[in-house]
Amino acid sequence: MNLVFLGAPGSGKGTQAGRLALRLAASHLATGDLLRAAVSTGSNLGRQAEAFMNAGELVPDEVIIGLIVEKQRMGELNGGFILDGFPRTLPQATALEKMCAEVGAGIDRAVLLEVEDDEIVRRLSGRLYCTRCQAGYNVHHDGSRPQAEGVCDRCHGPLTRRGDDDAGVIRNRVQVFRSQIRPIAEYYRSQSVLLTIAGNGTPDEVFSRISEGLGLE
Ligand code: AP5
Ligand code: MG
Repeated sequence: MNLVFLGAPGSGKGTQAGRLALRLAASHLATGDLLRAAVSTGSNLGRQAEAFMNAGELVPDEVIIGLIVEKQRMGELNGGFILDGFPRTLPQATALEKMCAEVGAGIDRAVLLEVEDDEIVRRLSGRLYCTRCQAGYNVHHDGSRPQAEGVCDRCHGPLTRRGDDDAGVIRNRVQVFRSQIRPIAEYYRSQSVLLTIAGNGTPDEVFSRISEGLGLE
């Protein structure tokens, strides 16, 4: 199954796409994670993306489409994929459709996670990750708090916040999302593949809704 995950910052794209990829044994490609890895190694891609990401703006289409084309050439889209945070613009959606058509594939479902703005801010202001092993935590939610403050349960590495989880940048990221989502949602609705899911509730509850919507339960 080939899926794309759409949704505001903090709507749970990474959380849910990760779980679903395990369930479906599919590749999980998150453009934000790929870009952050590129920034941390100081690669050419990272240098092109960094200022946009720090400001909560979208990285230019040609840069991000180039990244996905490269992943396709490396075979990472073969055998079922879940794209998390891509596409975010119509040119990205049409480029993806073209890439899929070249190998006789298509997008089976576009999952749009809907979450209220207050909850987005709450989730993102509580998010932490380990700088060593990348494990994720959230101080606002039982079950995902680290046992010792600021220290990773798994590897004892230091925990930090994402650079773009600053209040002002979160506001801009949400605004950018709201300004882009309508045509993308319409694009997938017109192809009868849009699946809109309420992203509130616990991660387990959201996962159940997605699984049901995809006919997996
Ligand atoms: P990206 O990394 O994709 O960030 P984003 O879209 O802002 O989304 P997040 O990763 O912050 O949230 P999420 O929806 O994955 O939520 P998560 O599961 O982590 O993009 C970053 C930047 O890269 C962009 O701003 C842009 O600059 C650039 N970029 C990326 N893709 C691009 C593209 N295609 N085109 C152009 N530029 C691009 O959950 C958030 C928190 O909430 C976590 O702590 C989690 O544990 C918790 N949580 C999750 N679900 C629940 C729940 N149900 N209840 C309680 N807590 C929950
Ligand atoms: Mg994410």
